[in-house]
Amino acid sequence: MSNVWYPYSQHQLNEPRLKVVGAEREFLTLEDGRVLIDGVSSWWAAIHGYNNDELNQAMNVQLEKFAHVMLGGITHEPVEQFAEKLVEITPEGLNHVFFSDSGSVAVEVALKMAVQFWSNKGNFEKVKFIALKNSYHGDTYKCMEVGDDPDYQSSYAHVLHKGFHTSIPQGGVNPSEEQLQSAVEELERILNSHHKSIAAFIVEPLMQGAGGFKLYSPRYLKEARLLCTKYNVLFVADEVATGFGRTGKLFACDHAKISPDIMILGKALTAGYVGHAATLASSTVFNAFLGDTYEEALMHGPTFMGNPLACAVGLKSYEIFERENYLEKVSHIEQVFKGAFSEFYHQNIQEIRCLGCMVVIETKDANCLKGFKQYAIDQGLWLRPIGKYLYATPPYTISNKSLHQIIKGLKDWFTKV
Ligand SMILES: Cc1ncc(COP(=O)(O)O)c(C=O)c1O
Repeated sequence: MSNVWYPYSQHQLNEPRLKVVGAEREFLTLEDGRVLIDGVSSWWAAIHGYNNDELNQAMNVQLEKFAHVMLGGITHEPVEQFAEKLVEITPEGLNHVFFSDSGSVAVEVALKMAVQFWSNKGNFEKVKFIALKNSYHGDTYKCMEVGDDPDYQSSYAHVLHKGFHTSIPQGGVNPSEEQLQSAVEELERILNSHHKSIAAFIVEPLMQGAGGFKLYSPRYLKEARLLCTKYNVLFVADEVATGFGRTGKLFACDHAKISPDIMILGKALTAGYVGHAATLASSTVFNAFLGDTYEEALMHGPTFMGNPLACAVGLKSYEIFERENYLEKVSHIEQVFKGAFSEFYHQNIQEIRCLGCMVVIETKDANCLKGFKQYAIDQGLWLRPIGKYLYATPPYTISNKSLHQIIKGLKDWFTKV
């Protein structure tokens, strides 16, 4: 047995684990020579696929200079350039970038920022959060508290202090007026009754990832942004999964043309090369931390924040994204998914949703996906259902041939197996 304690694993089941010995473009090569198409981009991060020459080179160039230095009392070119680029490309007003090493930590930082934003202003009552039902914001303690996905937190239910959770509008990206209003009214009811104790509203904009790739309307985001302003509650957009093109625009907030007070980026931020994340804040938030003493300062500093290799690869990743017009690639993949699945029905399927470089098949019962993982491997595909959700989030650079192999593999599971 391996000494590694693997993620989301019941080790007693001794489930087989594939050993990867190489990765190139969308392909993973296993030690026995088999090659699999990665249909999930290593948890939605490897947007360029693997072993990209330019990204490798960007990291190597930085590696020759230095791999890491602390960011306490020191700065360096890659971190300054990367922060400047992120401010340039994210929604208007997000002018300050706090780096950390993973999406969960970046969410923790956002939540701490929100609480201290209010306490620095003398308001010690605003300490709670609202989030969306079914949301996922990471696996650390406070992330579990604002999250609402039992798959990842039921073992801790007895110690978690949950805040408020409100429903996303029914009807996907195009809800009816009643569906939209019903969700907006639910949010306003909570804000109206509890805004004095609420620091922030945190959302995965437009697409709830780990919770089942549920989609909701950009109009809801617009309304929610307005309500947060009206009730003096900060609006936090967790774009760890949606950022960098996954939903068809650079950021999911761009669909609604809104600027959050705080935005969180991770995963594709560094193209799947090195773990890194960023919490961006508006000047209003940042300025509340200014003062004559350290009491008002944000006393948080991950050892590896602003890692130069991460910043160098992140900068190059965005350069390629823009130069190669990745949003066009994403739009093409969306059209292919929509074309392939718009008329696809099966008795075990509840709904199929496509947005950007993502397709999810929500089944009626997780049991109908038993054996799917092995079946996919036999078809040369790396796809991993979450519960009753079968999804594909391939690299944006995937070839048409591989894309159609994924689609065929997904469809055949229902029609032939
Ligand atoms: C929306 C969202 N927030 C936060 C996280 C946590 O990121 P990490 O796994 O890098 O800690 C995830 C991870 O899937 C996510 O999807």
